[in-house]
Amino acid sequence: MTDDHTHVQEFFTARAADWDTRFPDDGPAYAAAADSLSLSPGDAVLDAGCGTGRALPALRAAVGPQGAVIGVDLTVAMLEAAVRAGRDRDGALLLADVARLPLRSASLDAVFAAGLISHLSRPGPDLAELARVVRPGGRLALFHPIGRAALAARHGRRITDDDLRAEPSLRPMLARSGWRLDAYTDEDDRFLALAVRAS
Ligand SMILES: C[S@@+](CC[C@H](N)C(=O)[O-])C[C@H]1O[C@@H](n2cnc3c(N)ncnc32)[C@H](O)[C@@H]1O
Repeated sequence: MTDDHTHVQEFFTARAADWDTRFPDDGPAYAAAADSLSLSPGDAVLDAGCGTGRALPALRAAVGPQGAVIGVDLTVAMLEAAVRAGRDRDGALLLADVARLPLRSASLDAVFAAGLISHLSRPGPDLAELARVVRPGGRLALFHPIGRAALAARHGRRITDDDLRAEPSLRPMLARSGWRLDAYTDEDDRFLALAVRAS
């Protein structure tokens, strides 16, 4: 882990214990976002920046008992909360940085990442590392259970087109990182960018 991560780890360590109770109604939104990956039984899927593992039950349901679900996060306290919530029954939890995944190249069918990319100090290289572990034609879902404008308003900010998640910024960044943006939704109650691993 680098110094870049100290801030992220402190931020989420302070929030880990009550992360799930702060957002008790997000379950259906996470399930719908997981569905958008069109997973099949037996697939292998990574939840990048899985936190307390809120998406893991939906991902496990999609890939079934023969599939593989892996949750990666660099904040120990978030993974501990995931274990307390029993989410380790739905996926293998790994303490790791998405910048250096302990996974073989092209070994996965898909990556789900909720609330992750805004916290990455080097999103381009990190998205490229996510591309490395996904097979050509595999999929990426960048999800947030609130849209950009609603989130900015909550924080007293306004959105701009140079924001990382704005489509004019995100599309070329994904392309440089080995992904083709396939669908982009930014509504008050949902941000979802779907991309396909370029061959
Ligand atoms: C906003 S939280 C979202 C957690 C979970 N995906 C959810 O939706 O509830 C972002 C998570 O990403 C993790 N994270 C941030 N940077 C990371 C990195 N470089 N590698 C792995 N995890 C990271 C944080 O520790 C935190 O748990």
